[in-house]
Amino acid sequence: MSRDRAIRAIADVVGPSGVVHGADAERYLVDERRLYRGAAALIVAPSSVDECARVLTLCAGAGLGVVPQGGNTGYCGGATPFDAERQVVVSTSRLNRVRDVDPIGFTLTAEAGVVLANVQAAAAEHGLLFPLSMGSEGSCQIGGNISTNAGGLAVLRYGTMRDLVLGLEVVLPSGEVLSELKALRKDNTGYDLKSLFVGAEGTLGLVTAAVLKLFPLPRARQTAWLAVSSPAAACALLGRARRESGDRVVSAEYISRASLELVLRHVGGARDPLESPHPHYLLLELASSDDEAALRETLERILSSAFDAGEIVDGAIAESGPQRDALWLLRERVPEAERAEGGSVKHDVSVRIADVPKFLELAAAELERVAPHRLSVYGHIGDGNLHYNLLPAEGVALDRFRDESAEALSHAVHDLAARLGGSFSAEHGIGVLKAPELERYRSPEALATMQAVKRALDPEGTMTPGKVLRRRTADVDA
Ligand code: MLT
Ligand code: ZN
Repeated sequence: MSRDRAIRAIADVVGPSGVVHGADAERYLVDERRLYRGAAALIVAPSSVDECARVLTLCAGAGLGVVPQGGNTGYCGGATPFDAERQVVVSTSRLNRVRDVDPIGFTLTAEAGVVLANVQAAAAEHGLLFPLSMGSEGSCQIGGNISTNAGGLAVLRYGTMRDLVLGLEVVLPSGEVLSELKALRKDNTGYDLKSLFVGAEGTLGLVTAAVLKLFPLPRARQTAWLAVSSPAAACALLGRARRESGDRVVSAEYISRASLELVLRHVGGARDPLESPHPHYLLLELASSDDEAALRETLERILSSAFDAGEIVDGAIAESGPQRDALWLLRERVPEAERAEGGSVKHDVSVRIADVPKFLELAAAELERVAPHRLSVYGHIGDGNLHYNLLPAEGVALDRFRDESAEALSHAVHDLAARLGGSFSAEHGIGVLKAPELERYRSPEALATMQAVKRALDPEGTMTPGKVLRRRTADVDA
């Protein structure tokens, strides 16, 4: 079938309300960070798995690329289409039903387009917790969370999205439906197929639904904003808190003074909880099914021994829900504050938790030699994952900084992470932005294995072309 006929047939499959036109198209073509402006032959939002399957079958038959898109909140351009004639955006936004909540088995089955906050709310209605949590939870969709193996603010306790998926329903590039919506905790029946699609960023198939793990909803939550004497002290305190609380630490977020200052400057209502400034902060949160007083006692005991050990120099414990929100605002709004400051060159590295102090020390020294910049460092220290972001020197525009210095600085950051056995992309994926880095840092054996998987599942290279693995299978074979 010709491309034009296929495009008309796809529009017929989804019907008038499933085709995105005109001004509405804009938000599907521009990525969250406004790094990319793409183009597509068609943007559709199917309303059922069957429609998705028919759309992908038509795309496969006509050689049209399929670009799956969830809430479009990704940081690496993975959901942006880049071909006005040969790519079709398949939005999951109308696949938005929670199909089932099982309060006995602690599982929830959701379609790919359910917004993360709505999954959390559906679980909470049953007194249960879906623990994935992040700044974009009001707009990111569960299918995107799965496809990027999202991390966020509670990985330390509950794992990344990969750890939270029990079963998947996926439309394969051919249009066939791989229906593996199993709610089994144990299932050793051959290859773990679902794991292939988690973190594949839509390059192997279109995730349409998932069975997710739920947990008891904690009854008590205690949150502290702590000035730590050094990054090494933050790591020591994290270990102490995990050991001495019976592993009740949910979040351990590092915030540098520079990042806090950006928030204080740009975010309304932000206040420094401590009297004097300190170079390093840790936002520590414990949660449990105990009562609040018992958890508070546990936290105070941990902080008192950390204080005696010199790990903490000052701190504040939230006394109420609004106070907790005020502390979290200081962490969660750093990305927004960086944007308000004029933007940053972002990094998303991970190293072993014990290597975080070494990473910070070496990175500061090495980047100093590469090019002028300002640092804004924050992130999920409890996962060894830092957002090591660089702002232009005062008075320099972001575009000029990007053109002149970003590549050398980013390579220095990523090279250092690699030298320490770490990762250049801990939780934001590859997309198009980091595809060159994938080739630079993954081994030839790893790349060849990924290519083999891609070739096996998507021989024509129709799924999310040019993302993650830049070269088409055919180019590799040649
Ligand atoms: C975060 O940790 O705030 C998110 O990954 C977003 C970001 O780093 O900008
Ligand atoms: Zn993050």
